Amino acid sequence: MKIVYGTILNPLSPLDLWYCEDGALVFDEKTGKILFVGEAKEAREDFPQAEKVDTPDNILITPSFVDAHLHAVQYKIIGTFEGVELLPWLQKFTWPEESKFAKSDYAEKVFQEFLHDLLRNGTTTAAVYSSIHENAVHALYDISQDKARLFIGNVLMDQNSPDYLLQKTDDAINVVERLAKKYKDRYVVTPRFAITCSMKLMKSVAAIARKYNCFIQTHLSENKEEVEFVRKLFPDCKNYTDVYYQAGLLGPKSIMGHAIYLSNQELELLRNTNTKIAHCPISNYELLSGRMTVERFLLMGVNFTLGTDIAGGHEISMLGVMRRFLDEHRYFAPIRPSQALYWGTLDGAEALGLQNVAGNLAYGKYADFLVLHKPKGAVNPDEYMEGLMAGDYDNIVAKTFFEGREVYSKQN
Ligand code: GUN
Ligand code: ZN
Repeated sequence: MKIVYGTILNPLSPLDLWYCEDGALVFDEKTGKILFVGEAKEAREDFPQAEKVDTPDNILITPSFVDAHLHAVQYKIIGTFEGVELLPWLQKFTWPEESKFAKSDYAEKVFQEFLHDLLRNGTTTAAVYSSIHENAVHALYDISQDKARLFIGNVLMDQNSPDYLLQKTDDAINVVERLAKKYKDRYVVTPRFAITCSMKLMKSVAAIARKYNCFIQTHLSENKEEVEFVRKLFPDCKNYTDVYYQAGLLGPKSIMGHAIYLSNQELELLRNTNTKIAHCPISNYELLSGRMTVERFLLMGVNFTLGTDIAGGHEISMLGVMRRFLDEHRYFAPIRPSQALYWGTLDGAEALGLQNVAGNLAYGKYADFLVLHKPKGAVNPDEYMEGLMAGDYDNIVAKTFFEGREVYSKQN
């Protein structure tokens, strides 16, 4: 049994952040579960035998982050482009890089670095896109197994794709069936987006997702040129969202990235199917995609959570994403700094059905938490969060814990 002392910031809902200046977290490193979260004084009395975790002075303790949308196979092209929009970016930078993951050696090397960076930035749960290759999915599961809770899917591409990534429809379906059978609810059925997937492929893999209770992830209405392309490809569908609806891809276990250009009818359909959205504000900015109108999602009750969208976004830290989220929507949906933590932790856990086991600090949940350097001069939750989100993300996370195990510790 271990104990860590510090100031606790613990989101309970979009509006409530539980805060304890002189707090403690007690957990069992064997089960990985939390035994106590609350006042340090009470913990000292109730758990005298708990071994103290070695930490720097002046720390904050928060839940670790959840990233609902990122591409592990794009880790090496972070920040290598400028001023390019989605479709040319995919063709020029992304797809050539993703083709390299056919080689397991390359995949393993990059995934090691990717995982280390993820943990260094405090993310322990994520919904991850891999390349089309089956071997790469195995590699990422193996590498991340004891260190993070990754939900992983290989992208599907059976049309409008370069020859070197083009899959035969039946082969793609067979790969999905094999991987879904093996990894079950940790496998994510991942039709890349409607441009690269035939209706036959989307319908078949939607059925596989239902059979094995898998999550589904894809991109929806990210870029105007993309939306126009989809309209021409699927003339019988009412709109982009309807393409996925007709394919059977919407539902409570579906996470749609971006969702920028949507009508009210489309938002209604997403709400009524309880589909989740991964909002990726940094990527939307950097690929010049546009602003997701979060105020409409909030008003209509469409669930959304946050993602980095590495490498459309250059920032792997969820603190950076929270910062951009607050800034971008400042005049449309004012969100307080102390509320931002919810969107980067519990909200993502809810999207992934993990709200009873992770996402915040509570008795019986997994001890997925961060030891963070307390921003200087800050004295209340809003100021703590402002300080954390202010930048210098490389120097904020002192330690990352996943299921009660230390998976990252900053070396000074
Ligand atoms: N749409 C289809 N593929 C991708 C991708 O890799 N990144 C982003 N941002 N959008 C996509
Ligand atoms: Zn993406």
